[in-house]
Amino acid sequence: MKLKKKTPEELRSHRWYGAMDMRAFGHRSRTAQMGYERSDYAGKPVIAIINTWSDINPCHTHFKQRVEEVKRGVWQAGGFPVEMPAMSLSEPFQKPTTMMYRNFLAMECEELLRSYPADGAVLMGGCDKTTPALLMGAISMNLPAIFMPAGPMLRGNWGGATLGSGSDTWKYWAELRAGNITEKDWQEIEQGIARSPGHCMTMGTASTMTSAAEAMGFTLPGAASIPAPDSRHAAMATLTGKRAVGMVWEDLKPRDVLDADAIHNAVTAVLAIGGSTNAIVHLIALARRAGVKLDLDLFDALARKTPLLANIRPSGKYLMEDFYYAGGLRAVLKNLGGLLKSGARTVNGKTMGENIADAKVFDEDIIRCVEHALVKSDSLAVLRGNLAPDGAVIKPPAAEAHLHRHTGKAVVFADYNDMAARIDDPDLPVDKDSVIVLKHAGPLGGPGMPEWGQLPIPQKLLKQGVRDMVRISDARMSGTSYGACVLHVAPESWIGGPLALVRDGDLIELDVPGRKLNLKVSDAELAARKSAWKAPAPRYERGYGAAFSRHITQANDGCDFDFLEAGAQTPDPEIH
Ligand code: FES
Repeated sequence: MKLKKKTPEELRSHRWYGAMDMRAFGHRSRTAQMGYERSDYAGKPVIAIINTWSDINPCHTHFKQRVEEVKRGVWQAGGFPVEMPAMSLSEPFQKPTTMMYRNFLAMECEELLRSYPADGAVLMGGCDKTTPALLMGAISMNLPAIFMPAGPMLRGNWGGATLGSGSDTWKYWAELRAGNITEKDWQEIEQGIARSPGHCMTMGTASTMTSAAEAMGFTLPGAASIPAPDSRHAAMATLTGKRAVGMVWEDLKPRDVLDADAIHNAVTAVLAIGGSTNAIVHLIALARRAGVKLDLDLFDALARKTPLLANIRPSGKYLMEDFYYAGGLRAVLKNLGGLLKSGARTVNGKTMGENIADAKVFDEDIIRCVEHALVKSDSLAVLRGNLAPDGAVIKPPAAEAHLHRHTGKAVVFADYNDMAARIDDPDLPVDKDSVIVLKHAGPLGGPGMPEWGQLPIPQKLLKQGVRDMVRISDARMSGTSYGACVLHVAPESWIGGPLALVRDGDLIELDVPGRKLNLKVSDAELAARKSAWKAPAPRYERGYGAAFSRHITQANDGCDFDFLEAGAQTPDPEIH
């Protein structure tokens, strides 16, 4: 640990406020314009509060109030809070997908911190991509930074049943298409499934990534599991603001926290909570921002020995509110014992082991011990073969077990619109053993690798009672989804990966225990198809889309922009 405390003159903000020149006069006079006295900020750490509140983001509606609580903590600890709004990536509304803008927000976060007089930062996010985006930006900027998770919303309810975000949308949509519930039922579900501020309360990408942020040491202990409307969430916001000030004086920066042990803990935690497959893409990008090596092989290696302990939908039964009352993430981490790197540093200055030492489990069905794990291992599997030379992923516990080893004939859709037009065609040549394939859904093809990976079961099969089939794409899948869905196939079909070469009727072999995904077509035939393949025309000629298309990396490399991965530190701006 660093022992020497910074002096006020060593603060980064001192360069803006402390000098006796004309520029500093301007900074001070404009701060006075906002109603502050010099004593409000002089010699104090400026804490930038990067707030992803927006009227269009239902998961962050409480951030207007929470930011006041963060500010309260900053003031109490002797800092100067400055709220800086940043793009809110609203999962339900933003098209074509929030993933298209994750790197955009990461850049915005990094450049806000660089271009303004920030000494440290509180990062306020939670809805899916906001968490990795803010952390990626903060890691690259490397100013003291702490993450304040939005917290999950309360349980959903309908007619006495508990509803979970996403998972029950897919479930009841299938039941509606199968004719098992009415339009009126469906409308009632619409009213009851999301009933408070906060992010999705299943173990979707939001809960997964906020938990990963805590497991890698970027939040105060326990922060990720508190439901958004709970009074403890407000108190946590204040504590987080306070701690940000301390981190500045101690000069405790993201890359002091994010090392190989922190990444090991994040991956292990994601596996133990049955986290979203999206975490794979995000954690690879995060780790690489800090120069820490992470690839698909580490996920697979840790999956082979990490038990699934959190009984949360979609892999389990309960929701995040129940998880909090049962002890939350700290209790899961404690139950992992030696599977965790207990010496990893965290933002409160203590080790992960110290932070979870007194954690308790209050419901052993919701938070399991290793002996009574829901799944002993393999809550995630990395597949390779001639259909995915650079890897693909599947979440085995979310799939019907009989599909873990399966060979079937491909039913191929050229893109999403083709699938939407034909999937429910009564004449579609598909049966329960078919393998549904979707092309052009990857980082470039989607674009933005949308969450289309839980391809719908054809209506005629739903009516026969089929609820799971092998489905393959280069898309991602919402963490709230389930099924035998092979995702993140790399390289993607848009750039001519082998997925582009699959045709109707080809045999595809999925072997999860053997970690294989193969197209049973001869090499000679595949070579002939490849030479006949034509690259699609570029989707964007200008603007952000064009920059995105030029610089986005493939799923196995984290879908970061190639120029944002770790490298020489960008210099601070001159103040003149
Ligand atoms: Fe925001 Fe699910 S919609 S987390």
